[in-house]
Amino acid sequence: MSIQSEIQKRRTFGIVSHPDAGKTTLTEKLLLFGGAIQVAGAVKSNKIKRSATSDFMEIERQRGISVATSVMAFNYRGLKINILDTPGHQDFAEDTYRTLTAVDSVIVVIDVAKGVEAQTEKLVEVCRMRKTPIIVFINKLDREGKDGFDLLDEVEQKLNIHVRPLSWPVGMGQRFQGVYNLYEKKLVLFQPHGKQQQEEVIEITDLSDPELDKQVGEAAADELREEVHMIEEVYHEFDPEAYQNAEISPVFFGSAINNFGVKEMLDCFVEIAPPPLPRETEERVVEPLEDKFSGFVFKIHANMDPKHRDRIAFMRVCSGTFERNTNYLHVRQNRKLKFSNPTSFMASKKTVVDQAYPGDVIGLYDSGNFKIGDSITEGEVLNFKGIPSFSPEQFRFVNNDNPMKAKQLNKGLTQLMDEGVAQLFTRELDGRKIVGTVGALQFDVIQYRLEHEYGASCSYEPTRLHKAAWVECDDPAALKEFESRRKRDLAKDKDEKLVFLAESAWVLKTVQENHPEVKFHFTSEF
Ligand code: G4P
Repeated sequence: MSIQSEIQKRRTFGIVSHPDAGKTTLTEKLLLFGGAIQVAGAVKSNKIKRSATSDFMEIERQRGISVATSVMAFNYRGLKINILDTPGHQDFAEDTYRTLTAVDSVIVVIDVAKGVEAQTEKLVEVCRMRKTPIIVFINKLDREGKDGFDLLDEVEQKLNIHVRPLSWPVGMGQRFQGVYNLYEKKLVLFQPHGKQQQEEVIEITDLSDPELDKQVGEAAADELREEVHMIEEVYHEFDPEAYQNAEISPVFFGSAINNFGVKEMLDCFVEIAPPPLPRETEERVVEPLEDKFSGFVFKIHANMDPKHRDRIAFMRVCSGTFERNTNYLHVRQNRKLKFSNPTSFMASKKTVVDQAYPGDVIGLYDSGNFKIGDSITEGEVLNFKGIPSFSPEQFRFVNNDNPMKAKQLNKGLTQLMDEGVAQLFTRELDGRKIVGTVGALQFDVIQYRLEHEYGASCSYEPTRLHKAAWVECDDPAALKEFESRRKRDLAKDKDEKLVFLAESAWVLKTVQENHPEVKFHFTSEF
């Protein structure tokens, strides 16, 4: 098969949700459709349990298992679909953000009763920033939830996106009877209590057809007619191109656990979701169809088991064909590397891959060469853009508890930061080091790993920081003025970029008002 058809066949996406909205369940149903797994529960058993445990070793152990589900591939209607796992646990949020840099589109899952929740808002913000096309799946229609129209308004407002429903529920909870597929003009009937074997689909091209009343009853039929009429009045015709440009997001309703409404969404997804897209580098735009291979590392998984001190770097292929046992250039280190066991992970099955194409993600065994964002090419110097660091939300001063081991501490901190465990900021005023993470658990992970892998010991001191904002300013005089007035709150990140450490949202707002020439960014790339 030509590389062109390999690329055209691929769809690489991620599922975004707040924990418990149904991401794992939906993933599983998608894999079942594609025949990638045979029984329900295969993905679920790999899911990081949401026990309120603060035992990070236990969570790390589970994470070790879940590495197998980092990428799940399945075939459907002639396409090879790659789902990149976006861990939902609070503490892995930065990993999740970064995974979004390796997808071409996303599906956002929302619980019909809970509506838009915090983690979804944050993750969609990253998608918006990257102009990633979004499909919305409203889940758990078998339960009572919010009114459909209210929910669409909430989605538009909180996620700051425009939506267009492509299916519409007939009732909800106890009264849930199915969905009307606005895209294909078909009524899909729901059978409650898990009896759903295969969806019963009835073609109803004209909603005034009395067949509709026969199927769902007069009252529900009238309600549906009225609501669909309203949808057609309010929303424009769905335009797939607008979706691909991230200007409009189609919305589907269903119940993942009952495997209901999932097929409608998947059938639409395979029609509209973009194939692997071109990627920007600092040097030029890289097209997937180029002959020469290139890719970047977006996630590093370190094994905390002392008996297996290996790391896996996850790389997305961006152009050309990746071949096993071939010399490639590690651009940052300017040296040649060869991979003898590149691995693909497929719902708990690991296989060595000989070739991989744009849109694919492979795991590379690594002994410490890689850093998040590293580029690998056939020889050209390319540095992929769009793999930024995201502002952490928890900060602590880190102290060296053993002055004899300062070197080990520094080395350990640098390597852990390269892996993306957390971010390190060095305060301008006194050189104090501050670790920033998205979740509190990472502090324990760092302490443990410093001790066990580097023989260094550290302790933390609380800070009162709220956010890190990367600073940009075109006016040297204004920048100087800002730097001298806010010296106390300035730090450098690992790349020596200037960062403003704000104590509160209010401080940030005030500082912004006082220094209008200075721009604050919540990611390291702008
Ligand atoms: P997550 O990955 O987004 O965290 O969510 P997950 O799929 O694990 O689903 C969270 C809970 O919601 C699970 O229940 C799951 O069974 C349930 N769920 C998913 N889809 C639906 C749906 O369409 N309707 C209803 N009513 N529930 C749904 P749990 O009790 O936490 O786990 P389990 O005991 O079922 O495994």
